[in-house]
Amino acid sequence: MGKDVIIACDFNGKDECMKFLDRFTEEKPYVKIGMELFYSAGPDIVREIKKRGHKIFLDLKLHDIPNTVKKSMAVLSGLDVDMCNLHAGGTKAMMQAALEGLTRPDGTRPLLIAVTQLTSTSQERMKEDLLIDRPLDEVVMHYAKCAAESGLDGVVCSPLEAGKVHEVCGKDFLTVTPGVRFADGDVGDQVRVTTPEKAKEIGSDYIVVGRPITQAENPVEAYRRCVREFVG
Ligand code: C5P
Repeated sequence: MGKDVIIACDFNGKDECMKFLDRFTEEKPYVKIGMELFYSAGPDIVREIKKRGHKIFLDLKLHDIPNTVKKSMAVLSGLDVDMCNLHAGGTKAMMQAALEGLTRPDGTRPLLIAVTQLTSTSQERMKEDLLIDRPLDEVVMHYAKCAAESGLDGVVCSPLEAGKVHEVCGKDFLTVTPGVRFADGDVGDQVRVTTPEKAKEIGSDYIVVGRPITQAENPVEAYRRCVREFVG
């Protein structure tokens, strides 16, 4: 499986996003479209970015009853995205239904990735709010295993967890990892960060990089640096 850098296009609206992508005249980076942009610009933004030749990770984190998720995934699959995701907390039945919905009549489908526990969830909140007593890393690995057993392609996790996920779920099970910063860059609000080089060493398959590229003085150069350090 080829390694790649995915740019998190966390912009408020379509115009800002397109202006950003216009800067890339030589390469067509893989882009992540999240809820904010999708809800403001609608499905058309996916079609437009796809038409420009970019691969798309549609980060909508679905979580509902299996039938609703199955039908919604069929819609996303029709948008021709390359990767989409859901919450593993929706259970194996939901994950399996999602896969069915995603699969096109010709048997092809986008990659399907699970969110385990959000990185914003602490051990304490998990215990108090969700009544889950087990250690957080054990819960994350269990959810990853459930995702693998349901036939999913991988999980979103911290680059620092990528090695362990591969140990538990196999080397072909994908790890898509945000929380990446250049060694000499700003950490911002991310807590557990690592560099593109280190993420490569630990075994991330895809790194998701937002502000170190989108807020850079020269985003194209920052993207190229990420690719150089991560893909080599
Ligand atoms: O700007 P930055 O590089 O921090 O962006 C990381 C992207 O990955 C954002 O879109 C953020 O929402 C997303 N993300 C994350 N941590 C997770 C899951 C998603 O930072 N656990």
